[in-house]
Amino acid sequence: MRLKNKIAVITGGASGMGLATVNRFLKEGACVVIADFNVTTGTAAVEAANAAGYAGKVSFVRTDVAREEAIEAMLQHAVDQYGGLDILFNNAGVGGAIGPLTETSVSDWDYTFDVLAKGVFLGMKHGARIMKAQGRGGSIINTASIAGLSGDAGPLVYSAAKAAVISLSKSGAVELGADKIRVNAICPGFIVTPLADGGNEAATKSAFSRAQPWPDYGRGDHIAGAALFLASDDSEFVSGEAIVVDGGLTAAGPELSRKFPKSSARDSKVSGITKGSTGESAEIRRL
Ligand SMILES: NC(=O)c1ccc[n+]([C@@H]2O[C@H](COP(=O)([O-])OP(=O)(O)OC[C@H]3O[C@@H](n4cnc5c(N)ncnc54)[C@H](O)[C@@H]3O)[C@@H](O)[C@H]2O)c1
Repeated sequence: MRLKNKIAVITGGASGMGLATVNRFLKEGACVVIADFNVTTGTAAVEAANAAGYAGKVSFVRTDVAREEAIEAMLQHAVDQYGGLDILFNNAGVGGAIGPLTETSVSDWDYTFDVLAKGVFLGMKHGARIMKAQGRGGSIINTASIAGLSGDAGPLVYSAAKAAVISLSKSGAVELGADKIRVNAICPGFIVTPLADGGNEAATKSAFSRAQPWPDYGRGDHIAGAALFLASDDSEFVSGEAIVVDGGLTAAGPELSRKFPKSSARDSKVSGITKGSTGESAEIRRL
């Protein structure tokens, strides 16, 4: 039980990787507040957790993370119901604005940033206030994305908002470090969730299985495992990190071996050393 006596709030906890993390944290002994916009899935998540034996340790609060008073009420619920706050997972998200840059409206930009970036800022602001007052430290985990790390990994506005989440996590880690409040981001790769599968789970699983070096698709519990590490004392000295959980997708980078198959080490029939323009000969062995 790595989270015994810990109190956690998970935004976007009614679905996908947030829900997987709710279930993992409960299993590890935490009390969990599921904070989500969607009342139907939020209520169902609590009912399922109650049926699994966690009654009294889990509850749902309808929350819009883009509204400051809703964030305050969500965190106050954790304090009133369970006695404090140790872990805050700012994870709620939407795809937000899509389509060409030249057609993107300011209101679509605002909605996307309100949910993805302002939501994280508000969670950090009010979560840190409670954690500082308690004086026992804490762990804040923010869901960013590989989309925040490069171009062409997500819609333009979404990617910009996720880059902001990575930056918020680093600045927050520096400011809150002296209070033993750690702040880290998780950058998921392609994870099969209702957000990503567009209602076609089977096709998405198949496509995502081929999307990165790891020969299977990303699952919500892959993210839950990383969140558990960052929530628990196992990561006591880890702060200001943006941990990529993507099955090697970003490590593959320019995909040289796919674009220039001759340079693929995996399927190569030769081994040895090349010496460039030195005028010395390469030494190559056939395998
Ligand atoms: N699935 C992926 O491949 C992937 C990859 C990288 C990052 N992410 C990020 O992971 C996080 C979780 O996404 P998911 O894939 O599990 O999606 P999901 O749709 O399964 O879950 C997201 C949850 O957030 C909730 N939510 C949306 N707007 C909200 C708001 N304003 N206030 C409160 N709750 C709100 C939704 O109701 C939903 O329950 C998001 O931040 C997303 O951007 C997802």
